[in-house]
Amino acid sequence: MASQLDPEPLDAADPLAAFHDRFVPTEPGVVYLDGNSLGRPTKASLGQVNEVSATWSTRLIRGWEDGWLELPLVVGDVLAKGVLGAQPGEVAVTDSTTVNLYRLAVAAFDARPVRRTVIVERSEFPTDRYIVEGIARERDLEIRWLDGDSVEGLSTDDITATFDDDTALLILSAVNYRSAAIVDIKAVTNAARAAGALVLWDLSHAGGSIPVEMTANGVDLAVGCTYKYLNGGPGAPAFLYVRREFQDELRPPIQGWFAQARQFEMGPTFERRAGIGGWLVGTPGIIGLAAAQAGIELTAEAGIDAIRAKGIALTEYAIVLLDAWLAPLGCSLGSPRDSTRRGAHISIRHPDARRLTRALIDRNVLPDFRAPDSIRVGLSPLTTAFADVHRGLSTLRQLLE
Ligand SMILES: Cc1ncc(COP(=O)(O)O)c(C=O)c1O
Repeated sequence: MASQLDPEPLDAADPLAAFHDRFVPTEPGVVYLDGNSLGRPTKASLGQVNEVSATWSTRLIRGWEDGWLELPLVVGDVLAKGVLGAQPGEVAVTDSTTVNLYRLAVAAFDARPVRRTVIVERSEFPTDRYIVEGIARERDLEIRWLDGDSVEGLSTDDITATFDDDTALLILSAVNYRSAAIVDIKAVTNAARAAGALVLWDLSHAGGSIPVEMTANGVDLAVGCTYKYLNGGPGAPAFLYVRREFQDELRPPIQGWFAQARQFEMGPTFERRAGIGGWLVGTPGIIGLAAAQAGIELTAEAGIDAIRAKGIALTEYAIVLLDAWLAPLGCSLGSPRDSTRRGAHISIRHPDARRLTRALIDRNVLPDFRAPDSIRVGLSPLTTAFADVHRGLSTLRQLLE
């Protein structure tokens, strides 16, 4: 009988296994467990980049009229419909997550001028905290820091109990970058709304790994990366989501010419384009966007429910191996055991995690280290086989032994 630790039957039964072939193979012998930092290249992405380069060579400036101008919104629609559960015209793929976060946060504060408090988690991803600190300094706002459990994360009650009539905005990751703890998007959004506050979701570790259902969950504002689970490429443009009802009401703090109505009339004053196009800024990087488009299309094709199911199966399997092999050697799980509360990576804690991560990388197993004591094992569902998990964690076991 097959052992519970054997990856073969799991890979044989994997409905997404065929998607492995849609990616450029890794170098022989490499086990890639970092798709939650930088996703692997799809074959289609490389094709798209070649195609855009050919268009650039032949069509030159005419490429803009041929479709480049609207590409951030065209790709945004694919992402909205196929991955985020949002409506057409609610998502743009443009700029970086950091810049988008700043823009939406400032617009949110402007929409709540009397309120002076912004809430953020102390273990939130650095860029989110730094942006909050910068805006708070500029505007003399108060920051309320949330302290969640380092493994289980924040409960809905931990978060909603902090809302009051001075709260303007909560900035929060739907999946924590370190522990992978998931927050209940709908419950938090509803509680914020009842308190008159806004929530700006960072979906960097959620987009393409779990269903986030923007419309069904009533989300107002969100941003996220496309270079992680969406396999968009290094530095690929990020996305921003603004619920349709807010798009014209909120004011973007950067009035760039790509948000201008009748852009090429080059008018004397700024008149913002209606809709999500009014949230663009400057000239988009078309080569990066084309690569991201292919990654996003592939994610939409695979389907977010199938991706979520495999993310759960992979992390469950990794936890079985951790319990059997690594816990007796001094490791512990730094992510929730409840699969409904966990994204598609796990943190393995060990006092010597930094050195162990380095040793794994030297042996061609590529996870990443997160201070102070976590080996972060990313199990990006479209590119990770159960055999990769087995190989990666058995290498860790050998190192510990
Ligand atoms: C939660 C979160 N937000 C933001 C970012 C990165 O932002 P940017 O793409 O602007 O570098 C990351 C990157 O890992 C992240 O994990």
